[in-house]
Amino acid sequence: MKIGIIGAGNVATGLAKFWAKNGHQLLLSYSRDAEKLKRTAASIDRKVQTGTAAQAAAFGEVVVLAFPFTALDDAMKSAGTLSGKLVFSCVNALKGDNSGLAVGTTTSAAEEIAKCAPGARVVEGLPAFADLLHSDSRLVSGMKPSVFVCGDDAEGKQIVKKLLEESESEVIDAGPLWAARYIEPAMMLLVNLAYAQGYGSRVGYKFLHDVADPQRNKGSF
Ligand SMILES: NC(=O)c1ccc[n+]([C@@H]2O[C@H](COP(=O)([O-])OP(=O)(O)OC[C@H]3O[C@@H](n4cnc5c(N)ncnc54)[C@H](OP(=O)(O)O)[C@@H]3O)[C@@H](O)[C@H]2O)c1
Repeated sequence: MKIGIIGAGNVATGLAKFWAKNGHQLLLSYSRDAEKLKRTAASIDRKVQTGTAAQAAAFGEVVVLAFPFTALDDAMKSAGTLSGKLVFSCVNALKGDNSGLAVGTTTSAAEEIAKCAPGARVVEGLPAFADLLHSDSRLVSGMKPSVFVCGDDAEGKQIVKKLLEESESEVIDAGPLWAARYIEPAMMLLVNLAYAQGYGSRVGYKFLHDVADPQRNKGSF
């Protein structure tokens, strides 16, 4: 699959190493330092291409967003049109100093991204902590951490789920895009637990459930 990535930091590189290993074609973009971008791409795999955010958007069958929420306006402007694209957002709505969320519970980073990208099929999939992605093992207490996807495009969500599973996490479908309003604060809680409460970066959630086939029990509330 052709994957264009906007943002070339911890999350982008942490995911890209799995995707490169599995034979996906990657184009990495959106660093403020062109030489660093090239070095970063080469450190993942020599086949990883680099370019502008607009080139990543044009290249990708899937366009992965992996930049800070504070850079949202600039990143989306730089990407140009994403109409018709499957957009896989890893962006959490963190404030610049990570002290809390810039938006939450009434909207989300994912929904703000969808507003900036008319016609795009936006799916949110916040991955496991980058420290885990970059370490020798993804397992925490011997288990794969659960991460959540949400979005309004069923086919797109399946693709994002599969890509996240390649990063060795358990992926739970949390429903429509608005579920991001609750996923993002949950990830903020994890940031707090890891860095303010002293649990460190090898942390994650495990979603426990008895029902084997959630499709059978689906309903509204
Ligand atoms: N880290 C995690 O564990 C984790 C887990 C789940 C979700 N997330 C979310 O994933 C997203 C990316 O996180 P990350 O940890 O990969 O961030 P990061 O390491 O700081 O990477 C950010 C990337 O965005 C680029 N960028 C371009 N313009 C920027 C600007 N004006 N300000 C800041 N960065 C700019 C940076 O390029 P330069 O080379 O110029 O710095 C860098 O490539 C965030 O929304 C975060 O909330 C993170």
